[in-house]
Amino acid sequence: MNLVRFRWILQWVILGLFVIGSSEAAFRHVFRTSAQDGFAKRNRQLASAQKYDPNYKGQFQLDTSSITFSDGILSGILQKQVPGNMEEILFPFTISFLKDGSTRFQLDEKRRLEGNVDYDGAKIRKDRFDVAQYHDLGSRIHIDTEHPEVTTHNKKLLKVDYGNNQQFSMVLHFQPFMIEFLRDGNVEVVLNQRQLLNMEHYRPRSERSQKDESLGMWEEKFDNILDSKPRGPESLGLDISFIGYKHVYGVPEHTSSLSLKETNNSETGYTDPYRLYNVDIFEYEVDSPMSQYGAIPFMQAHKVNSDVGIFWSNAAATWIDIEKDASSTSTHWYSESGKMDVFIYLGPTALDVYEAYSGLTGRTQLPPLFSIGYHQCRWNYFSEEDVQTVDNTFNEVDMPYDAIWLDIDYTSGRRYFTWDEATFPHPQETLKKLDSNGRKMVVILDPHIKNDPNYFVSKDLLENDFTVKDSSGVDNYNAECWPGDSIWVDFFNMEGQQWWGDLYSYDRFKGSDKNLFIWNDMNEPSVFKGPETSMHRDAIHHGGWEHRDVHNIYGHECINSTYKGLIKRDHGELRPFILTRSFFAGTNTLAASWIGDTLSTWEHFRGSLATVLTNGVAGMPFSGADVAGFFGNPDPELFVRWYELGIFYPFFRAHAHIDTKRREPWLYGEPYTSMVRNLLGIRYRLLPTWYTTFRTTHMTGLPILRPQFLVHPADELGFDIDDQFYLGDSGLLVKPVLEPGVSETAVYIADDETYYDFYDFDEMKGKGKHVVPASLGRIPILLRGGNILITRERIRRASELTINDPYTLYIAVSGKTGSASGELYMDDGTSFEYEKGAYISRKFTFNDGVLDVFDTHPHPQSGVRYAESMKHLKVERIKLIGDNHQKIKIHKHGMSGVKSWDVKVNTDGVVQKPNLYLV
Ligand SMILES: *[C@@H]1O[C@H](CO)[C@@H](O)[C@H](O)[C@H]1NC(C)=O
Ligand SMILES: *[C@@H]1O[C@H](CO)[C@@H](O)[C@H](O)[C@H]1NC(C)=O
Repeated sequence: MNLVRFRWILQWVILGLFVIGSSEAAFRHVFRTSAQDGFAKRNRQLASAQKYDPNYKGQFQLDTSSITFSDGILSGILQKQVPGNMEEILFPFTISFLKDGSTRFQLDEKRRLEGNVDYDGAKIRKDRFDVAQYHDLGSRIHIDTEHPEVTTHNKKLLKVDYGNNQQFSMVLHFQPFMIEFLRDGNVEVVLNQRQLLNMEHYRPRSERSQKDESLGMWEEKFDNILDSKPRGPESLGLDISFIGYKHVYGVPEHTSSLSLKETNNSETGYTDPYRLYNVDIFEYEVDSPMSQYGAIPFMQAHKVNSDVGIFWSNAAATWIDIEKDASSTSTHWYSESGKMDVFIYLGPTALDVYEAYSGLTGRTQLPPLFSIGYHQCRWNYFSEEDVQTVDNTFNEVDMPYDAIWLDIDYTSGRRYFTWDEATFPHPQETLKKLDSNGRKMVVILDPHIKNDPNYFVSKDLLENDFTVKDSSGVDNYNAECWPGDSIWVDFFNMEGQQWWGDLYSYDRFKGSDKNLFIWNDMNEPSVFKGPETSMHRDAIHHGGWEHRDVHNIYGHECINSTYKGLIKRDHGELRPFILTRSFFAGTNTLAASWIGDTLSTWEHFRGSLATVLTNGVAGMPFSGADVAGFFGNPDPELFVRWYELGIFYPFFRAHAHIDTKRREPWLYGEPYTSMVRNLLGIRYRLLPTWYTTFRTTHMTGLPILRPQFLVHPADELGFDIDDQFYLGDSGLLVKPVLEPGVSETAVYIADDETYYDFYDFDEMKGKGKHVVPASLGRIPILLRGGNILITRERIRRASELTINDPYTLYIAVSGKTGSASGELYMDDGTSFEYEKGAYISRKFTFNDGVLDVFDTHPHPQSGVRYAESMKHLKVERIKLIGDNHQKIKIHKHGMSGVKSWDVKVNTDGVVQKPNLYLV
């Protein structure tokens, strides 16, 4: 939320009076369209020329004599043809074959690589920004020197077979220059099929022409703000085609559909490409390719039993056009600056793609257990008494929650790392009181710093000179934000990162304690009255990078600093929890995110689901939306429906704008309070399943919420379904109600397995749509036959208080085989000891009346110690679903062999006290 918004809200209201129905367009003008972004216009012009100009030719010619191949890397040189330019403009490229089966295409301009350019004394770098190098991804990139092998090399092409069993091939076509990627002999992905490859070459400012001006090459004004462009044009672009793929997913963050739409198409209504440019966009449009707060340039394509993916490693403003024909999808990517660096993943399964991609950019953090419980936030809880009352009321009304949150107004005049002395005089006492119920507090701290010589953070920041600079490269970048006149921390300065991290230490952040965690907001960065609500693109960061080069990873660097600070604060003994609004590929290793400033409307509520699913597919799975919408006052129906879906957001937090009515979960009164209590109960009962799912995601890169296409990869009818999903591998299929006034809904079942209703175990079977009851408060949840669901049925005040509680197993047998299986992961929920083996991992299988329990964790020393300490953990109840054995046998497999015993099943299919200890 920002101040500019008050201006917009006014405009919005006034405009709304005149132009009923088009209120959303009222703030659209704050953000650029592609036609208002010079480099996008130029790259789109190429695409139009390619389509309509019969004489269109690509700009690059391969020098075939330059090609070399050795040790898993193919190199060569492209020459750019520029009419009227006699000089040779050279672009070296490489194609690297990596051990994980992926390939990497890199391209840069020779002159810039060599630093042989002149920017009229501007205090900026000569080379192009390289995300992978900056992010230190080198240690994760392993060239395969063993398998790749040139199998054909003639006048027209060069072919390399690669991958573990030479399953993949790359064919480099010389004229025109084009790169095909094949799996088992079939072309899957093609680079430059449409000859849209572009990299704007260096030219001195003195050569600028009239035409350049109209294309925004040397300077550009938007919203009356000048971008000085000291390096002139330097954009890069490439078309990437997915052959035989009608569905592509990813490139968050947008409120669009899960299966991405064609851009520039009157049928989809999209005239602009999907845009990646982190901005503080409030009350955003639903069903739109406009940029939001985060940017992940990862795309996945799916067809029957086949997946491929692309990672476009670039942190500058990026646009992606999507076009489809009857069988394939062609995409066109262009960025404002930086190197060209593209990773290509050939699957064949989605898991293969995720493993390789997250192996590069980083696997999702295994968060502290408390953070997957319920979070209670609002702007603002105004005082210690307020916090106390809310906390106590949760106990009185018998509802669980794990963390209470403070927005900007707990600080002294929006000076972060301070507390308002009048309203929060005893933060540590408040924290202790929360801790007595296992609860936490999360407070907001933003990267803009009040420019105030009497404020210790500001003083220190200025003295150390860790600020972002304006286009002069010398003066501090100064603008308005929450505290008024502000300066910004430069996270591209490693010492600055450390300085920011150290602010979280207990002696610097007075009043903080071990159960205090962090929310970094406004880190796109948000700048009031800045261009598109953000920082000037010609502002300068440490190392001479322009803001334009690094815009989309500013937030990521902020979060990394915070993460390292929290690790240091607690001597590496506690897992940090951080919420971020802005993110890039890899932020998932550090933090959770939410989708920003929604409206309390059905439209925004519906939009939140596809957004959260897409974030998950692209590697930011610990994501959620404000329950029940940020702006406005939801009616009771929307309020309850939003909690219904909220309990299935991986990140589950209630939040509301300062001008909204109070809406803690009990305030709507009965029957709504009971409905919400039941829903919170479902979340907390399922915490063992959630935690196991987070562990799987942490290990594999698979999303937490699995869209239909991932679970049923051969069922084409499910490829564009984005209003239902599965929770990890649990077999839970959730179909939220997303519209008002209904009491039932239809869930789509993709296979001929038996599905059981989660509430009454009613059976459902048959491919197709099934109508299920969905009265208010009852979100349709099905359990797919063949799964064992693991819960903890006791609801306590907070998740931490449940870790010694016994489990219940719901054995839902397959309608086809009568068997079922499930997994359980658990550890202490707070520390990093699990990395040393201190965890419990069990697999349960049920077959013909026999329940086998396997220890799936080979025990190192610390694992044994941990397991010893959990000897009391047991299963207290087993419920058989779809099975009518009256007696079952339990086989517990351990180091010392198998222990077996029989247990009796009562008439409800329940085994009470099966005497099954996990350790
Ligand atoms: C977008 O569509 C219009 C109208 O069909 C066409 O003139 C234009 O060239 C298209 N642009 C691109 C980038 O394909
Ligand atoms: C965080 O910063 C450190 C350097 O201080 C770097 O090694 C690490 O890769 C960064 N992590 C991420 C996720 O960017």
